[in-house]
Amino acid sequence: MDTDFLVIGSGLAGLAFALRMAQIGSVTVVTKGRLPESATEYAQGGIASVWSAEDSFADHSRDTEVAGAGLCRPDIVDLVVREGPDRIRDLIALGTHFSQRPGTEDGEYDLGREGGHSHRRILHAVDATGSEIMRALTEAVRREPHITVLERHLAVDLLIDAKFDTSIRTPACWGAYVLDLAGNQVKRYQARVTLLATGGTGKVYLYTSNPDVATGDGIAMAYRAGVPIGNMEFIQFHPTCLYHPQAKSFLVTEAMRGEGAILRRPDGEAFMRRYHPDAELAPRDIVARAIDNEMKVHGFEHVYLDITHRDAAFIRDRFPHIYERCLQFGIDITAQPIPVVPAAHYCCGGTVTDRDGATGIQRLYAAGEVAMTGLHGANRLASNSLLEALVFGHRAAVAATEFARADRHAMPQLPEWNPGHAVDSDESVVVTQNWDEIRRLMWNYVGIVRSNRRLARALKRITLLQQEIDDYYWDFLITGDLIELRNIATVAELIIKSAITRKESRGLHYNINYPLRDDRDWGHDTILVLGRPFELDAEFTASLARPRGA
Ligand code: FAD
Ligand code: SIN
Repeated sequence: MDTDFLVIGSGLAGLAFALRMAQIGSVTVVTKGRLPESATEYAQGGIASVWSAEDSFADHSRDTEVAGAGLCRPDIVDLVVREGPDRIRDLIALGTHFSQRPGTEDGEYDLGREGGHSHRRILHAVDATGSEIMRALTEAVRREPHITVLERHLAVDLLIDAKFDTSIRTPACWGAYVLDLAGNQVKRYQARVTLLATGGTGKVYLYTSNPDVATGDGIAMAYRAGVPIGNMEFIQFHPTCLYHPQAKSFLVTEAMRGEGAILRRPDGEAFMRRYHPDAELAPRDIVARAIDNEMKVHGFEHVYLDITHRDAAFIRDRFPHIYERCLQFGIDITAQPIPVVPAAHYCCGGTVTDRDGATGIQRLYAAGEVAMTGLHGANRLASNSLLEALVFGHRAAVAATEFARADRHAMPQLPEWNPGHAVDSDESVVVTQNWDEIRRLMWNYVGIVRSNRRLARALKRITLLQQEIDDYYWDFLITGDLIELRNIATVAELIIKSAITRKESRGLHYNINYPLRDDRDWGHDTILVLGRPFELDAEFTASLARPRGA
């Protein structure tokens, strides 16, 4: 099971990397679901890039940095924005079909608009961009003889040599332990270079736009391996997920607001202009908080997104997938407003990487939503994440190629997985109970609006739950559900601790105890490293003792 390059995750970042690495060696892609299952597959709005003559790199950079609220790394923003068009041309060369403007020459793409963008710059494939990108990538990967894809294979932990030999001063990653979900067996996959491309963490929250695979496994594995994890307090809530008892995680794209859709209260009032001059096209954090506020103040269960004033044929052509899906739930979006609520959508923080996707551990790279590159800062601009996954999948491949060509080390033989004295579990209810509890506590206490009291409660609960999960983890033979539970608990802990650490409000992190942005003390990233002590400081503890409202 040795391979030159191990890729963990088969979304855009993983497959873009795999296709390049296959030019120089053997590639094994492990993915815990079926091949296209990923956040990429469900991306709707599209991929942002400077494409029209009226647009410029400077404008795309400025929009990204305004959304990022002072925490973007300008050098990273600049490189991503500049490399974007070439990487999109790579996708087109692979066979991705983006929507074209009706009646124009071949190649004139229809550019969508979303919140925070000063120009139309979103390339899209109607309202199902991700599945078109995944179709093209998957077909290319299946044609490539040097790539082996192992579906239903879940990476459990990274193989770090220093964990087995404490004399090693510069740890290196030599692959991963992987659970074959069909055979329920953990196998050791050794590799010269490993890419973490495991995507995001939406499932840590009760309500999310994300697919079931988004359990933050890569961030949890990297943290356990000693990689610094940054900015986990910046969780993006998408303002408009379909509100319907039978609809699980169905997004209604921001591009609909880009085409004029209006957010209304149940009494019909269009409320967004009261919150921001750009109304429906204000940055996503502002729109999500405005909806949250309307719902909490007035006790609404949801608000509405209304596009009925646009021509019915236009709506069906531009949003065919959303039109069909809503119709299945009895909502004709050409005639009725769509009930919507905010839901956890995107993790701006993650595994800290450099401009080549390298982590602090040798031979370990990370790309896509799992990584924190410095592009998004405190809030991601819409449609910048497919772009980031594409650019960094490529950059990591270029860096890993150079590294592999110069690599003269023999592959060490690290130990096989040792299950110890674990036995089959007779109490899987522990997993479901804790899974629900974590997701609910994160939604209620660490959601769109936070406070010190709620964060303190969340920390107390997660500490207890983690002890229970840890005992269970070592006593019983592992299953996919148990590994994911342990990972969402770790990610929840990282989000809570990061949110407690940041004593201001900025971008996606809003704490009523510190409602203002504080550039003097907090204009920097929040970094957590395993083993570094975390203590509640005196200011935080004192705020808990104060009477309510003081
Ligand atoms: P993913 O595409 O999520 O892929 C992660 C992969 O890792 C999956 O294959 C998963 O199965 C696998 N995996 C996870 N853990 C393990 C493990 N332990 N072992 C093995 N495999 C594992 N962004 C935009 O820019 N534009 C959009 O229009 C847009 N729309 C979106 C719509 C929705 C509904 C959602 C959920 C997100 C959207 N986003 C959008 C965000 C964007 O889709 C993601 O950030 C991006 O696709 C992430 O790509 P990725 O390759 O990093 O991860
Ligand atoms: C959407 O289509 O609204 C999602 C876009 C994004 O998350 O960037």
